[in-house]
Amino acid sequence: MSVNIQVIFYSMYGHIFTMAEAIAEGARRGQGTEVSLFQVPELVPEETLEKSGAKAQRDKFSHVPIAEPNQLAGADALIFGTPTRFGNMCAQMRNFLDQTGGLWMKGSLVGKVGSVFTSTGTQHGGQETTITSFHSTLLHLGMIIVGVPYSEQRLMNMEEITGGTPYGASTLANTDGSRQPSENELEIARFQGQHVAEIARKLKQG
Ligand SMILES: Cc1cc2nc3c(=O)[nH]c(=O)nc-3n(C[C@H](O)[C@H](O)[C@H](O)COP(=O)(O)O)c2cc1C
Repeated sequence: MSVNIQVIFYSMYGHIFTMAEAIAEGARRGQGTEVSLFQVPELVPEETLEKSGAKAQRDKFSHVPIAEPNQLAGADALIFGTPTRFGNMCAQMRNFLDQTGGLWMKGSLVGKVGSVFTSTGTQHGGQETTITSFHSTLLHLGMIIVGVPYSEQRLMNMEEITGGTPYGASTLANTDGSRQPSENELEIARFQGQHVAEIARKLKQG
């Protein structure tokens, strides 16, 4: 039996893309998983992206296909990645989710596994609020929320500055984007992918 997992993300400077790849890698550890990566459409004008340096970063993952809302119905589990914007998900992700009204009407996502990961510029910049407020949307759509249990002991790492929350994996980008996801953060992301895949498999098996 194959378990279909879609990792749906938005990334402006690449941190969430790197995390998305780690999530997908973890999800593929599970037996018989089909894992695919998608990005949601950009909303920021090209000129603005160029001025901020984001265009060059986004070009590095321009090969990742653009998600289309109706495709979510084909997944057993959906793992969403968004950078934090003022303690919340980014507008690009919000806009994408706001196009799932048709799926909501039909109950197409009811009973599917939903999970979220994020990144912030700063250490206390709202990782938890971004993830837990994202969960509200997934609950409206009828999804079963999965986070990262403390059996992943890297959540308790106090030896270094690190992201990683029981609500979902996370990384810290620094205010200038100079910090890249650490091995501790990437391993938590892999754990989340694998954990989601295992739960989705159990649910599908019934
Ligand atoms: C408009 C805006 C709002 C942001 N709000 C926050 C915030 O509330 N807290 C924080 O720590 N970082 C904030 N950031 C920094 C981003 O979260 C950071 O650039 C992002 O996590 C990097 O991920 P990416 O490389 O995948 O785009 C903000 C950035 C922008 C452009």
